[in-house]
Amino acid sequence: ENNKNLSPCVILIGMMGAGKTTIGRALARELGVEFVDLDHEIVRRCGVEIPIIFDIEGEEGFRKRETAVLSELVTQPNIVLATGGGAIMAACNQELLKKGKVIYLKASLDELFARISKDTGRPLLQTENPKQKLEQLLTLRMPIYERLANITMETSTGNIHTTVKQLKKALL
Ligand code: S3P
Repeated sequence: ENNKNLSPCVILIGMMGAGKTTIGRALARELGVEFVDLDHEIVRRCGVEIPIIFDIEGEEGFRKRETAVLSELVTQPNIVLATGGGAIMAACNQELLKKGKVIYLKASLDELFARISKDTGRPLLQTENPKQKLEQLLTLRMPIYERLANITMETSTGNIHTTVKQLKKALL
């Protein structure tokens, strides 16, 4: 199936571990459009992984790169775009996100932590107490995710297939 009529683009927001990349890729396939991952696009352009960008340029440098790439991608029709968990924080990014159809993928703290606790690619969680850090980020970001979302989808329960079907229905 190939719709190629997805304008504006679909943008997935939500915490690390919410399933933005996994569900985004599956949703794009279901809709017959291209999938783009914002983090991956930043890494591709830099030529180094995210932890290295944080090491060299700090979070501030990473956020500048994130805004630059986001501003390009939001104007593209016929894509599903997965963002990084913190891409919703900057006011200018919040404006950019309004150009797309925004889906918030929601999950509980325990579920998020279970999904990402073994990963090493997330510099913000390289702290003494990563779960506490994740909780702080969730508390701070939750109202922003909810405010920006056109569609909210719970991902703690249910499989990828069902979630994708529900999202497709909500979008078309
Ligand atoms: C971040 C989330 C990451 C990545 C970076 C910062 C965040 O993306 O952009 O490590 O601030 O929550 P994921 O949400 O894909 O893990």
